Amino acid sequence: MTAQFPVVRPRRLRRTPALRRLVAETHVHPSDLVLPLFVKEGIAEPQPIASMPGVMQHTRESLRKAAYEAAEAGVGGLILFGIPAVKDGRGSAADDPAGIVQKALRDLSGDLGDSIVITADLCLDEYTDHGHCGILTSSGEVDNDATLERYASIAVAQAAAGVDVVAPSGMMDGQVAAIRTALDEGGYGNVAIMAYAVKYASAFYGPFRDAAECAPQFGDRSAYQQDPPNAEEAIREVLLDLDEGADVVMVKPALTYLDVIRRVRDAVHVPVAAYQVSGEYSMVEAAAAQGWIDRDRAIMETLVSIRRAGADIILTYWATEVARSLRA
Ligand code: PBG
Repeated sequence: MTAQFPVVRPRRLRRTPALRRLVAETHVHPSDLVLPLFVKEGIAEPQPIASMPGVMQHTRESLRKAAYEAAEAGVGGLILFGIPAVKDGRGSAADDPAGIVQKALRDLSGDLGDSIVITADLCLDEYTDHGHCGILTSSGEVDNDATLERYASIAVAQAAAGVDVVAPSGMMDGQVAAIRTALDEGGYGNVAIMAYAVKYASAFYGPFRDAAECAPQFGDRSAYQQDPPNAEEAIREVLLDLDEGADVVMVKPALTYLDVIRRVRDAVHVPVAAYQVSGEYSMVEAAAAQGWIDRDRAIMETLVSIRRAGADIILTYWATEVARSLRA
């Protein structure tokens, strides 16, 4: 008797690289990727970030080069973070037309034109001496509504400097509406908003806080960022931001919230972005440096998982490298 079992053999479609490529359900394209970049005021040379091997705090000049390389590799967008030389209680440098991010945005929009989408993170934590994402009350809490006025002013300053997209990341209630109104009244109706709609209070931002020099000087961000156990709340945040005028919604971090990315993807009809944050990057780099995992395969596996979960856009510190390898 000939063996009848098993007739159905999924392994047939896995046999060769060509077969696997033909049936692949998920793809990562350079144009889906957004590269986060840090620019620091008052440094003469780019500074390496110890907890993020391969990532730099840039000078204005080295930033231009990194941005150009990303555009040349076909990366879809950049997101800029600034580190001012002087910080204060209200984050004055954030909306100063002569502030570091505004200067850098002018450089980049002049250099790059429309070859890549120029986004700026819109928050106060890199600019405040206390490291929180907003203005504080006398008792040391983040004052939601007073902070909205600051965000509105930052949005207009970034728009005047040539940004295509602003990305509010502070998790204040009403931030998208406040920014949309300010942009429209300022004559910047074309500037889009990529809202960090779903941003969890995460341990995986640790290395970023070294990079952006923005660790809170007291307390943490749990009173404004989302609580990790909650996923229904994420949908509520997304719907609120869309009501307020968000054009793109983001989930952050990515890897520990793949289920949330999928829920958001299924709930709305706008582009969904996911931020593969600093800790996700550093975890892979650290394990690879020890020889414990295959770095390149691990990077692609994380990116594919984020796309498979439903993200259209991925913010990743590996954007340029991955874009190059996909084109090679
Ligand atoms: C706040 C902001 C943070 C990140 C992006 N925007 C830090 C925070 O909320 O503490 C984290 C990004 C990363 O970890 O890569 N401006």
